[in-house]
Amino acid sequence: MDLKIQTNQILDDLAVNWHPFMQMKDFETYPPKRIIRAKGLKLFSEDSWYYDTISSWWCNILGHCHPKITKALQEQIETLDHIMFGNFTHDPAIELSKKLVTITPKGLDRVYYSDNGSTSFEVALKMSLHYWVNMGQKNKSKIVFFNGSYHGDTIGAMSVSGVSQYNQMFRPLMFDSVQIPDPSMDEAHALEQLEVTLHQYSEEIAAVVIEPLLMGAGGMKITSPDFLKNVRYLTRKHHVHLISDEVATGFGRTGHLFASNAANVTPDFMCLSKALTNGQLPLAVTMLTDEIYRAFYADFEEGKTFYHGHTFTANTLGCAVANATLTTLDEWDWKRNVDAIHQRLDVELNQLNDQFYCLSNPRTIGTVGAIDIDLSGHRAMFKLTQIGFEHHLTIRPLGNTLYLYLPLITSQDELNDIFNQLSNIITKAING
Ligand SMILES: Cc1ncc(COP(=O)(O)O)c(C=O)c1O
Repeated sequence: MDLKIQTNQILDDLAVNWHPFMQMKDFETYPPKRIIRAKGLKLFSEDSWYYDTISSWWCNILGHCHPKITKALQEQIETLDHIMFGNFTHDPAIELSKKLVTITPKGLDRVYYSDNGSTSFEVALKMSLHYWVNMGQKNKSKIVFFNGSYHGDTIGAMSVSGVSQYNQMFRPLMFDSVQIPDPSMDEAHALEQLEVTLHQYSEEIAAVVIEPLLMGAGGMKITSPDFLKNVRYLTRKHHVHLISDEVATGFGRTGHLFASNAANVTPDFMCLSKALTNGQLPLAVTMLTDEIYRAFYADFEEGKTFYHGHTFTANTLGCAVANATLTTLDEWDWKRNVDAIHQRLDVELNQLNDQFYCLSNPRTIGTVGAIDIDLSGHRAMFKLTQIGFEHHLTIRPLGNTLYLYLPLITSQDELNDIFNQLSNIITKAING
């Protein structure tokens, strides 16, 4: 290890890079960690290592540099790298779409590709609005969303996200939308408000958007399958689309392959990204029903063509990596491991809650565990991240919520280690 080289390279980073969601000045005190290698649950820098306890922004499910997925990427890049998905198609996309149609809730029969969670959500918003225009209902253009939800950082996604910390600065750029109270506080009240809104304004509403079961960026807030079922019931009753944003909940994260499965519902649109490729390449899809697809299928002169696309739509390498991810998931009893992780999260977080006066509201779903922490002191939550690194954990609190978002492969031994360290971290944070 040569600390001088390490330091020089971090200085180079700080001279040219701008890291997302970060106040760059903070790096004067706590420079970024330079990761040079990753394997399984671990990220290695030259002089230390860290558990990836937030799955690299919620996308890693099968561990880093998974050999089977890496091999699929290597093989693909030697035959076909990337082509435009306008006039061309390719086998990895055909295989992936067939698979996705099979494994997503019944009725989601069509796949529209993009390249990140926000764009998959933008596609759903634009397609919903366009559908109603194609059906002769031009007034149906408003989007209904739940306070506390998050759908990405593009302008459209921000316009219907209820996490003001991320988007209040950009309000002048956003379109008007309709906000329903945070369901994680009171599901019955949120449903009541949704019903009133849909009853009064359904002729102006294109879609209701939802993060099913888990509102991630809003603070890892959990809602029930029944709530989702009722939202589906109301949206059908009032003839508005349901856009289910499973960007963060898809592929086993909540203990179900998709959160929608927990409530046995089929949304009109389902957005997927992140774990679709095990986080090894950027790729996203918007799944939709045949009924929506049919509304666009017409003679060209009718003007029903959907104009939205990205250069890397259905990137060949991304599709090959996604196919390998889904095959690997298929060949493994992931549900068993997720249930074991979930049970453990439940027990351990409740124990921590009993042990530390500053903790409250432990909550878990699948491989996600969260607890609120009340720390005093200047930028206490920011410092918690730094203490986390000293103890080999990657912790990025959301407001005053401390959470773990664990890869599905996390073992019981790793959990022992993670919870020992978490207890040490909280003790250190309390003692300043
Ligand atoms: C539920 C949800 N939707 C959309 C997004 C946006 O995805 P991306 O960051 O890939 O644009 C996120 C990101 O965390 C998310 O959690």
